[in-house]
Amino acid sequence: MRVLGIETSCDETGLAIYDRQQGLLGHVLHSQVALHAEYGGVVPELASRDHVRRLPALYQQLLAETQIDPNSFDAIAYTEGPGLIGALLTGAAFAKSLAWSLGCPAIGVHHMEGHLLAPLLEEPAPEFPFLALLVSGGHTQLMAVSALGQYELLGQSLDDAAGEAFDKTAKLLGLGYPGGPALAALAEHGDASRFQGKARFPRPMTDRPGLDFSFSGLKTAVALTIQRLLDGSAMDAQTRADIARAFEEAVVDTLSMKVDRALQQTGLKRIVVAGGVGANRRLRAQLRALGEQRGVEVFYPRIEFCTDNGAMIALVGSFYVETAQQHPVDHFIRARARWPLSTR
Ligand code: KG4
Ligand code: ZN
Repeated sequence: MRVLGIETSCDETGLAIYDRQQGLLGHVLHSQVALHAEYGGVVPELASRDHVRRLPALYQQLLAETQIDPNSFDAIAYTEGPGLIGALLTGAAFAKSLAWSLGCPAIGVHHMEGHLLAPLLEEPAPEFPFLALLVSGGHTQLMAVSALGQYELLGQSLDDAAGEAFDKTAKLLGLGYPGGPALAALAEHGDASRFQGKARFPRPMTDRPGLDFSFSGLKTAVALTIQRLLDGSAMDAQTRADIARAFEEAVVDTLSMKVDRALQQTGLKRIVVAGGVGANRRLRAQLRALGEQRGVEVFYPRIEFCTDNGAMIALVGSFYVETAQQHPVDHFIRARARWPLSTR
């Protein structure tokens, strides 16, 4: 059984073909980073237009690379939400039209469920149940995953998501969009030991019980530090790197403390890390170390499947075809900007 997956929720156009027997047969991706860079962030209307421009060519490229006959698709899965509504609509319209022409169903997939299950694209794949840490540009969530479609929210960010905190802090440091990878690269040359004692960046909400997060205070601490250090002068390169490193360590410490707490609370023996911030090397290393210490296995998707891609959407679509939990086969084009995973 074979599914074409289409992802267009934000600034990446991704298509992939996933086969339940043979695994991932191919995937193509176009990133709009260059398009949005001069604006310092994603411009929704430009994102939608670019998806419209890219989708047909990427689809043809995927067919040419894999030499697959589209009539062999059992279904087409597309990201129904959450995301930018215009961007979502381009993928939904493309998927529905293609499905209609091929005579197969089009299935709307939840973007975060895609991220959550992306580690199942890898070998060895984690088995259920597991603890999931979802860290993307829009979400920071801890979930107990007992089976496909059974996601219990244990905690989440009350304000900024982890990726958003990376992006906003990167902006404060004068780094371009997308901020997360740029900040992580800068942090490699930094030394956090300069910020000790009172100057240490906070590990928000780790001093009280619970599994929720809050990252906006950390961003403010960085802004205040920059103000204090600058005192009217320009910030030198080493200082910027030191701040980046101290910030990254604060986020990674906070996330791993909460993961540890969630492991103790649930007794789960596997951790799955997903979403764009899951590409962060320091986070991966620290969670791996935590896993070793606690005798818990840690699973990640490969770096390119941490951020948005079509493969995770094709994979989730294939699960729903297999378990016959499909959406009604009609020709309505559905997209939802907001869509809590719990109501999927
Ligand atoms: O999952 P994703 O591609 O899109 C959403 O669904 O939000 O995540 C994008 C987020 C951005 O905030 C980006 O800055 C962050 O992931 N990110 C990183 C890294 N790579 C991407 N943050 C920290 N370190 C990285 N290496
Ligand atoms: Zn995403």
